[in-house]
Amino acid sequence: MSNQTEIQNRALIGARNLLQNCVELSAGQTLLLIEEDRQIDYFDAHVGDIIAQEARDMGATVLTIATPRVDGPDDVPSALMAAMTHVDHTVFLNRIGDQMRFKSLPGDGTKTMVYTLDVETLASRAAGYDHTLMSRFVALINSALDDKTHYHITCAAGTDVTGDMPMPEPKSNIGGGFAVRLFPMSVHKPIPAGSMNGQIVLQRWVTGTNTHAYSPEIHYLKSPITVHVENGHAVGFDGDKADVAQFRAHGKMVADKFGLDESLIHSWHSGVNPGTGYFAKAKDDPVRWNGMIFGSPRHLHFHTCGDYPPGEINWHIIDPTVTFDGATYLEGGEVRFFDTPEARALLQEFDLAPDNMKTHQNIGL
Ligand SMILES: [Fe+2]
Repeated sequence: MSNQTEIQNRALIGARNLLQNCVELSAGQTLLLIEEDRQIDYFDAHVGDIIAQEARDMGATVLTIATPRVDGPDDVPSALMAAMTHVDHTVFLNRIGDQMRFKSLPGDGTKTMVYTLDVETLASRAAGYDHTLMSRFVALINSALDDKTHYHITCAAGTDVTGDMPMPEPKSNIGGGFAVRLFPMSVHKPIPAGSMNGQIVLQRWVTGTNTHAYSPEIHYLKSPITVHVENGHAVGFDGDKADVAQFRAHGKMVADKFGLDESLIHSWHSGVNPGTGYFAKAKDDPVRWNGMIFGSPRHLHFHTCGDYPPGEINWHIIDPTVTFDGATYLEGGEVRFFDTPEARALLQEFDLAPDNMKTHQNIGL
């Protein structure tokens, strides 16, 4: 079998996992596929084609709408909102789904945001893990976090911050608090950063968060910058003087555009889906990289610039180590939680072991 055929076959398995286990599509139902205009170079159009074909093969009726990018959660076209009320399921291959994930959406049908931006990702381990397994993992991690009181994040580049865990919500729901189902399931709930202290070392770039559109969405860092953090605010910056000035000017530009406080660090989370990779060069398109790589345990981001999740600017760190109350949860990009008895028991239900959960190393850097 050629490599191309194998990728195609595995992509179909990923699409089936999405439709069967995440969307919960049945024969005879209607599926609305919301794509981005095909001249926008973000989603590979073949991903939509594969998902639509698989849905038809499952006996569903597929309707497809393509839209331009919208400025923010309040600018979603009303025709699109209306369409959602007439179908059993809506699947977003469109950043509108991301922009709406903290809002409520019309209609009783399911809504799902898809993060497999290209066929290789739809064919990857990230999309291949049974969605039920990954959902239960995220729920397990979220509820384990409810019992913790303190976190500590470090990375090889020099990040070292600590903070207190919030009082738990009444219950951690399986979707991680989002109005939209996420595929693949890839992150634990955002952890508030309001009590965080220490330093964060930023390298390469900072990106938007796919909440509001602004330009430039990426700010490239010519040299590393150390951000000093006090009680969830950036209070000082070390690094090349000109680079620090440009970095701060970018934050101010975004903050001024939306009336926000760019010094505020709202929350953070790391990836929990060890199959997540990035199969192109990240530096060629950090916007796409940001939109996919958040699911990798090699990646952790801070939601900054805004007092709401996920803020407007993501700060990224690579190969994080995270401990809660002194117990290692994530170590240099490997999820140690998969070795715990409760995680092993869950894996066993799906005929998997911790060895099947090693982090994919190619994240495009
Ligand atoms: Fe995030």
